Amino acid sequence: MLFIGIDLGTSAVKLLAMDSRGKIVHVVSQEYPICFPRPGWAEQSPEDWYAQTLKGLKKLLEKCDRSQVAGISFGGQMHGLVVLDSRDQVIRPAILWNDGRTGKETEYLNHTVGRDKLSQYTANIAFAGFTAPKLLWMKENEPDLFAKIAKIMLPKDYLAYRLSGAFCTDYSDASGTLLLDVQHRCWSREMLEICSVREEQLPRLCESYEVTGVLKKEIAHELGLPQGVKVIAGAGDNAAAAVGTGTVGDGRCNISLGTSGTVFISSKNFRVDRYNALHSFDHADGAYHLMGCMLSAASCNKWWMDEILKTRDYSGEQQRIRRLGENPVFFLPYLMGERSPHNNPDARAVFFGMSMDTTREEMTQAVLEGVSFGLRDSMEVVRELGIRIQRATLCGGGAKSPLWRRIIANIMNLKVDIIESEEGPGYGAAILAAVGCGEYADVEEAAGRLVKIVDTIVPEPELVDRYEAQYRKFRRIYPAVKELYG
Ligand code: XUL
Repeated sequence: MLFIGIDLGTSAVKLLAMDSRGKIVHVVSQEYPICFPRPGWAEQSPEDWYAQTLKGLKKLLEKCDRSQVAGISFGGQMHGLVVLDSRDQVIRPAILWNDGRTGKETEYLNHTVGRDKLSQYTANIAFAGFTAPKLLWMKENEPDLFAKIAKIMLPKDYLAYRLSGAFCTDYSDASGTLLLDVQHRCWSREMLEICSVREEQLPRLCESYEVTGVLKKEIAHELGLPQGVKVIAGAGDNAAAAVGTGTVGDGRCNISLGTSGTVFISSKNFRVDRYNALHSFDHADGAYHLMGCMLSAASCNKWWMDEILKTRDYSGEQQRIRRLGENPVFFLPYLMGERSPHNNPDARAVFFGMSMDTTREEMTQAVLEGVSFGLRDSMEVVRELGIRIQRATLCGGGAKSPLWRRIIANIMNLKVDIIESEEGPGYGAAILAAVGCGEYADVEEAAGRLVKIVDTIVPEPELVDRYEAQYRKFRRIYPAVKELYG
């Protein structure tokens, strides 16, 4: 049998087909544009997502035995607001997870409604990218459009709706709306009232490995697939990546270096940190997770390479970097504001410490290190909670760089495991499809059998010490410039 995993990312949709033994048969990727209508805003067209997914499916299936396809599932960029009217037309472009327009609404939720109440209702506080503040923004700024909303969806759920007609979401992705009571796995009545939302506007809640429907007849026909291919709910991209890297069960850690950067800790039990610095969300394995998320991770390096250095030779630039742990240049990676731990949509990036002899290599290195220090900020909160993490898996585009892997291992002081399949969310989605189709008893069993570690980067004690001193300096830069933002 074959299982298709669709990873609806921010720059592209990546699709893969996996066989019953976990082997990836084929991978394709289709890009789409992102629009920044104002500084700090980020939007995409759900129609683009769907059109590119369909194109991608066609390309993928050219290399597969179509008769063997049993199930399709998803990992999707989280928090995005997709709104449909009563005729199922998209009302406005989707407002994305890294959009910072909702400063006022986030402030209202955290300070007028109050952080304690929000945490009690949802296990989380408000961050600018979450879905609930976006609904409040729409209500205030686009009241006519807000009045037309018949269905509210998350990005990957829009794809599933178009492909199967099932109006569903899963608990991991729903956690990022700030409308879900994460502990009890149901919509929060209080939050719905605060956001003027009715439950019938929201999707039905499912476990990530649940079958929600089958591929529509006409789409199966167009793709040359058999009738009855199952559509499985899937997960937010971080929970899907966690499944794809074996980060399930208790106390495991995955670090993702994608457009965003995340530190993800799987947990059998529900827990919340005292300051709600980490997100407390449901996991795709039926349990829970904690997560710190930075808004610009590999995207900082992409910006530095593409926009500033004007080069495509990422690895050539990195090969010239020799001396680690003693860079006089620092970089604050807040190109789109920052979520964890600062919760400040107005924050912006900073280079610090240049002199007349600063080199191009030092600045490139500072970008890689700045992102890693930003992830360390989230890991510090994990450690403060008494959670002992000794090793982590690494996934996302940035994880392909040997240099960046080594920097992460030493800044975090963790063993870093590299997985055979780099396709974190797509592979996790295919695993969820396999579980949904009954190929495995549960997600933990499937991940345990399918995910393979192929390399481990071990921290080097001397470098760990040097980076410790560097990290202490890094931590002092944000408080020093904070007052100057926005
Ligand atoms: C997680 C988050 C990002 C997006 C990226 O909270 O906002 O990781 O899911 O696609």
